[in-house]
Amino acid sequence: MGHRPALDVVLEGLRRLEYRGYDSAGVAVLDGAGGLAVERKAGRLANLEARLDEVGRDHVSGTTGMGHTRWATHGAPIDRNSHPHRDATGRLAVVHNGIIENFALLRAELEAEGVELASDTDSETAAHLIARAYAAGDTAGDLPASVRLVCRRLEGAFTLVVTHADQADKVVAARRSSPLVVGVGEGETFLASDVAAFIEFTRNAVELGQDQCVVITREGYEVTDFLGEPVATKAFEVNWDLSAAEKGGHDYFMLKEIEEQPEALANTLRGHFVDGRIVLDEQRLADQDLRDVDKVFVVACGTAFHSGLVAKYAIEHWTRLPVECELASEFRYRDPVLDRDTLVVAISQSGETADTLEAVRHAREQKARVLAICNTNGAQIPRESDAVLYTHAGPEIGVAATKTFLAQIAANYLVGLALAQARGTKYPDEVAREFHELEAMPDAVRHTLGVVPQVRELARELADSKAILFLGRHVGFPVALEGALKLKELAYMHAEGFAAGELKHGPIALIEQGLPVVIAMPSPKGRAVLHAKLLSNINEIQARGARTIVIAEEGDDTVKPFADHLIEVPAVPTLLQPLVSSVPLQVLAAEIARSRGYDVDKPRNLAKSVTVE
Ligand code: G6P
Repeated sequence: MGHRPALDVVLEGLRRLEYRGYDSAGVAVLDGAGGLAVERKAGRLANLEARLDEVGRDHVSGTTGMGHTRWATHGAPIDRNSHPHRDATGRLAVVHNGIIENFALLRAELEAEGVELASDTDSETAAHLIARAYAAGDTAGDLPASVRLVCRRLEGAFTLVVTHADQADKVVAARRSSPLVVGVGEGETFLASDVAAFIEFTRNAVELGQDQCVVITREGYEVTDFLGEPVATKAFEVNWDLSAAEKGGHDYFMLKEIEEQPEALANTLRGHFVDGRIVLDEQRLADQDLRDVDKVFVVACGTAFHSGLVAKYAIEHWTRLPVECELASEFRYRDPVLDRDTLVVAISQSGETADTLEAVRHAREQKARVLAICNTNGAQIPRESDAVLYTHAGPEIGVAATKTFLAQIAANYLVGLALAQARGTKYPDEVAREFHELEAMPDAVRHTLGVVPQVRELARELADSKAILFLGRHVGFPVALEGALKLKELAYMHAEGFAAGELKHGPIALIEQGLPVVIAMPSPKGRAVLHAKLLSNINEIQARGARTIVIAEEGDDTVKPFADHLIEVPAVPTLLQPLVSSVPLQVLAAEIARSRGYDVDKPRNLAKSVTVE
């Protein structure tokens, strides 16, 4: 809401947030004279823009507007399931993120009253319910009160934004679990799932808490709970600028983000070693709490989960504490053994992932202490955790995580070192040495980026492969899993990551003439045994016709006879190898995807923040 043409502002905001979902897009604009124009289209934002050009953009003019990009949950990604959804009068419009879990009941109730629903979505029920509350009863004519009343009935997770043609002086929004931030400008006010949408206009933001409702006008905002009681809010200033969220001359965001990894690592480590000690400054866990810990659980999804798998090796080694690493979506449903001496490390780039959030809630109910590792200031997961350690990787737009993965590994290692320090399982000089080795990693990663042209070339050769396998041992095993995940996500190619030692127990049957197999080699100097075993494994697959692509330490001559393609990365301590060996795998996946003609930043069916379970 403000003084600018809303359509332009909304479309630009949607463009920046399109990474959150791109099954469909839609806009609603109030003309200020009692009119409400809505346009929606399945597919990418570009489809909506084409539609707007077709109908004429003048038809959608005004200074108050809203928009939505969808990641489909209920109902196929087709035009009529696109947001905004309207009530029967067409004068009220709603966009929704999340899932309204009791929607079947609500839908039945509406249908029993004769309301005809125009879509298959859960979201549309909210539009009709709010319209009903606005039309009659105690909340008649009061849009904020109508929204609050309906929110009290909704179950599940939601961000709702509501406009009404008769209430052109305000926009009402509400949130439970799904994110919502307010941007406060001069004579203009914004609402978005992420500050990136309005960063061009203001850096002054306000985060909304759980079960809160906000009414914005051009002049400002008012936040209440769902009963209408005013609540205190937390304002913050966004500390990165627009250029951080732009491609900066790169062909696609992911490549830019791959190249930003040295800075992401350095920024994540900065300030965490002071006067010879590891400091987790954002944490609210005292040293005593860390000493009491007798078990660590790492919970996360996707790439963040793989960063946890890497960390397990380091944390167990340094602290002698058992570390269990578990997919967040499995964790809470299997009744894990938790108590107040359990430390749960919840890793999430976005801090919004519903599976991880529910795992955090479950852990806290069981009295475990929760430490969040997160890349998004003030997101829901850190808010609901006992402590937070931020990765300072900057905004990540590419849907497939890269720089946040490396930053998560670094942050996990800081947690491991803090635990070792508090528990005395490492002497102070050992902790200092480990930290300094970590501190050298930004340079090592910078050096590793020299492989990009070579990997790009290899990607072109491999682009027509039917499948690619990835092998590793020890910390190279999660690297293999991550390499395979990246390839599945981006190139839609069948890919599997295996522990190399497990190969002979089944997967070796997959090896056939010419099948590309990527192997992350350990250092011959670090763990000589691992190196020797992996050499044998390569030998076994080469003998069966595999085409071997070996990622090995610079100067490791022993591996050369086994490598059809050799990608050399700098020599670093064993536990830190994933920080360099993952880099060529990220580039490989992105470049294979590009060779196959796919959109690297927005792979099909995926979304960056999955705010539904
Ligand atoms: C989605 C993304 C993945 C990401 C996962 C966890 O599925 O597509 O790339 O790793 O969510 O996201 P988080 O924000 O919790 O790290």
